[in-house]
Amino acid sequence: MSQASKERQRDAFTSGFGVLAATLGSAVGLGNIWKFPYITGANGGASFLLVYLLATLLVGLPVMIAEIAIGRRAKANPISALQSLAPRGQPWWIIGAAGMLASFLIMSFYSEVVAWVFAYVLEALRGTTLSSDRKVTEAAFSSLTGDPWRSLLWQWAVLATMGGILLMGVARGIEALTKKLMPLLFLLLVLLCGFSLTLDGAAEGLAFLFYPDFSKLTGAAVLTALGLAFFKLSIGMGTMMTYGSYFRDDQNIPAIAFRVMAADLCVSLLAGVAIFPAVFTFGFEPAAGPALVFITVPAVFSQIPIGQVLMVTFFVLTAIAATGAMLSLMEVPVLILRERFSLSRPKAVMLTLAVLAASGSVCALSGSLLADAKLFGLNMFDLFDFVSSNIILPVGGILIALFVGWVWGFERLWQSVSNNGQLANAGLARLVFFLLRYVSPLLVLIVMLKGLNIF
Ligand code: PHE
Repeated sequence: MSQASKERQRDAFTSGFGVLAATLGSAVGLGNIWKFPYITGANGGASFLLVYLLATLLVGLPVMIAEIAIGRRAKANPISALQSLAPRGQPWWIIGAAGMLASFLIMSFYSEVVAWVFAYVLEALRGTTLSSDRKVTEAAFSSLTGDPWRSLLWQWAVLATMGGILLMGVARGIEALTKKLMPLLFLLLVLLCGFSLTLDGAAEGLAFLFYPDFSKLTGAAVLTALGLAFFKLSIGMGTMMTYGSYFRDDQNIPAIAFRVMAADLCVSLLAGVAIFPAVFTFGFEPAAGPALVFITVPAVFSQIPIGQVLMVTFFVLTAIAATGAMLSLMEVPVLILRERFSLSRPKAVMLTLAVLAASGSVCALSGSLLADAKLFGLNMFDLFDFVSSNIILPVGGILIALFVGWVWGFERLWQSVSNNGQLANAGLARLVFFLLRYVSPLLVLIVMLKGLNIF
């Protein structure tokens, strides 16, 4: 089949803004609104934030550019893409296969958090959780996670919703939805920050977020920051390669990657500024863990006259942001199943959902029936999160950086990111290449060995 007719057959993003919105839709999600605040809270605040920023700039951004460039050049799923770009016989495609595994691990717990968000839309409509009394908001959250049926049913509702959107295809489903709704989420977050900053604990909350305390920076915290940077940018596991394969040839990859990184960071910071003042005002624990957003946000809204309406809107928009990210996670196995196993799109979506329903239930039940099932001291929900964010994504990142830095080479990276020489900024491309060849792999390796206590 000629290249041109092959391209015509593949689904792809259509407009320039659509590409940005879908890529941003993948990056912005529960990672910003749920994970970033609670992980930052648990690891000491500002010093963690600083390391996270460095990891994003030195490792995250170059790897993101590399992944999109690989995906667009090969116009294929991550396994086939690496197979076609690597010299014959070198097994770089394993990155794609590991990515598929990571995507199932992440989706298993991610879909459960989306399930909590869906459930909170209903809670907000009922208005019962809307309280500044931490006992009330904490009890509401633990009654949800501790109820096996509620956890499972909401997760199934999430899976059904995702399946429906994915069946509509890349351009119509993913692109149309994220394009319309991302700006709205941004606005609501700004509004929420505004309210939060009027609270009594605002100064204390901001100090926590912005004044570093380096005594909290353990090796494990640094690895967590790195893992969060990977998770946030959806890199290290083939999502950006997959989306890159839907990029058009005239789109400016580095510019899009940079904008996505910057906007993603803004949303995380906004979420932090919205949440920490409330944590200190109402006497929550900054290190409250995965419950943090679900217990503090209702407390903030309880102080606002039209708080209930805003709380409904907040959780609806969070659900939508999470949907963009979840769809991009699902797209990895879906595209692999379609292209490697010649399944139709509906069949690939159905198979992915079936596997996910099984693996996800393990996470859904980890607050109730499976609460005692632990490995390395972590329940299944935390274990899936730890293994994917702190092991598979960083290792994937090292391998992608090594592949581009040592196998693919500067010339080919340059051809891809400069749209065959049309966009000229060779200096910047050289810097990205240098980071990929030397800095990212070494840095990630050291952080991993230290963070996992290997040396
Ligand atoms: N970046 C997404 C978020 O922050 C999560 C994600 C991770 C999506 C990996 C795709 C791949 O919510």
